[in-house]
Amino acid sequence: MKFSYSNSTRIHFGKEQTQSIAKEIPTDKKVLLIYGGGSIKKNGVYDQVKAALADHQWIEFSGVEPNPTVETLDKAVALAKSEQVDYVLAVGGGSVIDGSKYVVAAALYDGDGWDIMTGKYRVKKALPLGVVLTLPATGSESNSGGVVTKKATQDKLPFGAPVLRPVFAVMDPDVMKTLPERQLINGIVDAWVHVCEQYLTYPTGAMVQDGYAETLLRNLKFLAEQYDQRDSDSWRENLMWTANQALNGLIGAGVPQDWATHMMGHEITALYGVDHARSLAMVHASVLRHEIATKREKLEQMGRNVFALDESDNLAEATIDAIEALYRQLDVATQLTDHQGDAAKAIDNIIQQLETHRMLKLGEHRTITLEQSREILKQVVA
Ligand code: NZQ
Ligand code: ZN
Repeated sequence: MKFSYSNSTRIHFGKEQTQSIAKEIPTDKKVLLIYGGGSIKKNGVYDQVKAALADHQWIEFSGVEPNPTVETLDKAVALAKSEQVDYVLAVGGGSVIDGSKYVVAAALYDGDGWDIMTGKYRVKKALPLGVVLTLPATGSESNSGGVVTKKATQDKLPFGAPVLRPVFAVMDPDVMKTLPERQLINGIVDAWVHVCEQYLTYPTGAMVQDGYAETLLRNLKFLAEQYDQRDSDSWRENLMWTANQALNGLIGAGVPQDWATHMMGHEITALYGVDHARSLAMVHASVLRHEIATKREKLEQMGRNVFALDESDNLAEATIDAIEALYRQLDVATQLTDHQGDAAKAIDNIIQQLETHRMLKLGEHRTITLEQSREILKQVVA
């Protein structure tokens, strides 16, 4: 085990914590408030933020779409530059937060912001970013990564840098009350796959990371089983905190990580408009079945410690079946069927995009080549 770990985001968790913004952002800072399609105007979050910013000078940018595009975000970058803002406040789900990470980086860069995604520009500086989370799922509120799409070319690419980690994150589970069921379920699934990407690899004897990952997985399984309790404070609090912990860097410190499911899922979202979490549920079991030989021990460990399955020669197989059953229980599709009726063409399209994006060696062993990805996708696209 070898790692350097820091998570500097201050978290203000619980009811009425939106007020903390007032103290977090110095009053001499000019703030750019960034949000999405307007859900925050309907559920009162906008008004809470407005009240907290009563003593600040601030302007706003709205319309960041799910799976945020550089086409939209560059308008926010232009605004940040022309108005010389010195603090960005993102209010929304993963899309608004990721989009704001792009904005805080691109605002201090003279070239084309897309250079951040291609790696031509390595982000070294950024405006400070604060967050009000409205959808627990991605963990973006306290991690240093993001995913942004170029609509014109259907490129959905990850980026990250330590300076992009939010300074603070407000997490008030009450804001989840207005979430559509679809988004609540997305949150469970995305967080679940985040844990799996960092845990379902091969044993390294990392007792803390494994043990905590198993706790998070058991939580998510329990919340899925107790889905009819979703209107309780406790259910909301536990989902919000679990989804945060699933991708804040802790369980991934010093252990091998996979992320093949995410990289294939991103292409499916970019090409076919599938929600991020749902793209993962389509790919996940197929990746695990394809990689069962190298993942067998961890799958068995998960079968025992998360699903409480009985010992058997087929424990790894039974664990994958249980994962798939969890998605079905949540009524989440486990195959891509909405592809204009041509499965072979859809597979070709996804492979082509993986190739364009140099996703040529995926998985914790870097052994999933394009040919292997094609084998995996044959089980995904129906
Ligand atoms: O735009 P508004 O009006 O706010 O509506 C949003 C949006 O339509 C709505 N919503 C959010 N909070 C709400 C609400 N509706 C009612 N009440 C509320 N409280 O939900 C819809 C979806 O929001 P979005 O932000 O797109 O969802 P999510 O949080 O799942 O984010 C998905 C994005 O995050 C990326 C994904 O690729 C995708 O682009 N990811 C980011 C990661 C990261 N930064 O670490 C990791 C993830 O693996 C993921 O790739
Ligand atoms: Zn994800």
